[in-house]
Amino acid sequence: MRIALGSDHRGFETKTRIAERLSRAGHEVIDKGTTSAESVDYPDYASAVAHAVASGEADRGILICGTGLGMCIAANKVAGVRAAPCHDALTAELSRRHNDANILCLSSDMLGDRVIGHMVDIWLATDFEGGRHARRVEKIKALEHECD
Ligand code: RB5
Repeated sequence: MRIALGSDHRGFETKTRIAERLSRAGHEVIDKGTTSAESVDYPDYASAVAHAVASGEADRGILICGTGLGMCIAANKVAGVRAAPCHDALTAELSRRHNDANILCLSSDMLGDRVIGHMVDIWLATDFEGGRHARRVEKIKALEHECD
């Protein structure tokens, strides 16, 4: 899978470890930065990953900041993105099964590496269930055109 990664300074070290894990598992990592622990603005990296996913450059995206929340709020402004702030294996799994989330947003401050690794593995391996959830996701997509 082609996976776009992005973080701000707070998520930089976690992003590096996720990139290593994904590469080891055979995924193609598209690293959209940041490239150091120097302070940056998370919307810039949310934008880069969101556009990579929305355009089809990447199949999925993973964003990391202190809480995972700023990244999620910013990424969801881009049409075609369904970014989910997940905190454990169950939210990661359900964000795929029910919401067809295409970007996983993680907190570097609140989650340890083992939990994050497990969540990422589950999130990447879980398929969208479709059915009644497909109707609901279509309604989410329709919201993107309300202001057209
Ligand atoms: C940066 O200090 C922090 O605000 C950011 O990493 C994130 O938690 C925002 O939602």
